[in-house]
This record gives sequence, C-alpha cells and structure tokens, in this order.
Amino acid sequence: MNSDDGTLQQALDLAIHARNNAYAPYSNFKVGAAIVTSGKKIFSGCNVENASYGGTICAERGAILAANAAGERDYRYIVVVTQADPPSVPCALCLQVMAEFCTPDFEVVLASPDGVHSRKTLGELLPYPFNEVPV
Ligand code: THU
Repeated sequence: MNSDDGTLQQALDLAIHARNNAYAPYSNFKVGAAIVTSGKKIFSGCNVENASYGGTICAERGAILAANAAGERDYRYIVVVTQADPPSVPCALCLQVMAEFCTPDFEVVLASPDGVHSRKTLGELLPYPFNEVPV
C-alpha cells in the first residue's frame, strides 16, 4: 500500500467522518469505511440500520456501492473504523462483496478514531470466497 502520499490519512479522515454519520439506533455500533481506488479516489460509507434488521447496510458495502455508482471498480485498499478494541474485522458478507472486485492481496486497514490499528489482506480474512466458477 502506498500510504506515504497522504491518501491513507485522507481515507481515515473520511471513514471517521462517515462513521459520525452512521445510523445505528438499534445496535448503537457505528462503523465508517473508505475505499481507495487505483486512481486514489476515495469513497466512504457508514452503516445504515433498519427496523427490519435484515435491511441494514454495512459501512463497507456502502462505500463499495458508492464507488460502483461512480464507475470505479478497481480498488487498492479499504479503511474500516470502529470503536471496538481491537477494531472490528468486516463481516463475511462485506468480505464476499470485496472478493467480487478485489484480489486476495487487497488490504483491509482496521482502525479506530484514534488511528490505524492493523492491516490484513482479503485473502487472510476470506480465504475461500464463494465463486460459482469452479476453481
Ligand atoms: N456492521 C458494519 O457496518 N460492517 C460490518 O462489517 C459488520 C457490521 C454494522 C451493521 C450493524 O449496523 C452494526 O454494525 C452492528 O452489527
């Protein structure tokens, strides 16, 4: 990850900002995410819950949907901000959505509002994504 160009800090700031806008009246667990494209564009998302709990959209998928809507499908890494200790890992559904667009070396940056905590690859977090094409 080329984090020496300020993009990582910018993505972290946007993820924190998005997290502040999370709509989480049921769980009270706010999540912010920001995905960075190969062209260093950044798209953020937050979790948006629903009274019908299954209608909830996670922050990571919100960010990926926003990027898709802008025609961006080539990603370098995603920053995920929670206040858990240690910071939460994306759920399997979000990892599966990442696997739709990203290779196993895609990086997931786990962070809290205080800063980056650790980095994992998508391959580490979801070694066997579903794929209807036989491998
Ligand atoms: N959540 C996310 O935003 N991302 C994840 O990867 C897992 C969970 C949200 C969904 C729900 O609003 C809250 O966190 C508690 O599960």
